[in-house]
Amino acid sequence: MNFYVMTLFPELIENVAKESILGRAVNAGYISVKAVNFRAYSKDRHRHVDDYTYGGGAGMLIKPEPVYDCYADIAEKIGHPCRVVYLTPAGRVFTQETAQELAKEEDLILLCGHYEGIDERVIDEIVTDQISIGDYVLTGGELPALVLLDAVSRLVPGVLSAGSAETESFSDGLLEYPQYTRPEVWHDTRVPEILISGDHKKVDRWRREESLRKTLKNRPDLLRTAYLTKEDKAFLKTLRESDGIAP
Ligand code: ADE
Repeated sequence: MNFYVMTLFPELIENVAKESILGRAVNAGYISVKAVNFRAYSKDRHRHVDDYTYGGGAGMLIKPEPVYDCYADIAEKIGHPCRVVYLTPAGRVFTQETAQELAKEEDLILLCGHYEGIDERVIDEIVTDQISIGDYVLTGGELPALVLLDAVSRLVPGVLSAGSAETESFSDGLLEYPQYTRPEVWHDTRVPEILISGDHKKVDRWRREESLRKTLKNRPDLLRTAYLTKEDKAFLKTLRESDGIAP
């Protein structure tokens, strides 16, 4: 999968994309990450990309021309229609489901804004998806672009070892169960006995129940949409009753 990031801070993107799992995925050819500085497309003598907003108000806005010319150059190289994601706090909230949907794309263009945002006309003309990474405002779109890039890349076949993305939090609508490694006793606490019992059926049931317990405690809202069996529902009922929580 190929990512093209339109940004005023290309090094921010490149420096993250060369580290750790993303760096390995790039080197192995599973993904490519190209950061393009749209300032280079400014026709302004001083390479300015921002200007005052019509109608007044504080702050500066990114002009449409450099963004469009940068996009046109990237789109021509790609050579076929491709989704363009604008990272903005005004977008729909990014979820694991959106990451799964975007991971199916061959090419993806990410647009990072700064200052007060980008002229609406160029957004209307080139952007297919407006995405927010949460209900808070950051100084620019680069960190959100990296969050999206990381979450999507790890779903691209080959980037993670087989199965790793399937048992984690959110993959089935629940939070992940607790996990343990050696030593068996650490700071006087033993690894739960059931995990060393060798009984896979019991281990699976324990993990499911711990997932349900954690989701009920930390993200009860997820239980409204998670797929729950009769057994899951009965277990949740006992948890709620023992905690005095209404069903
Ligand atoms: N740009 C600034 N804040 C943002 C957010 N929360 N999500 C996406 N892009 C942003």
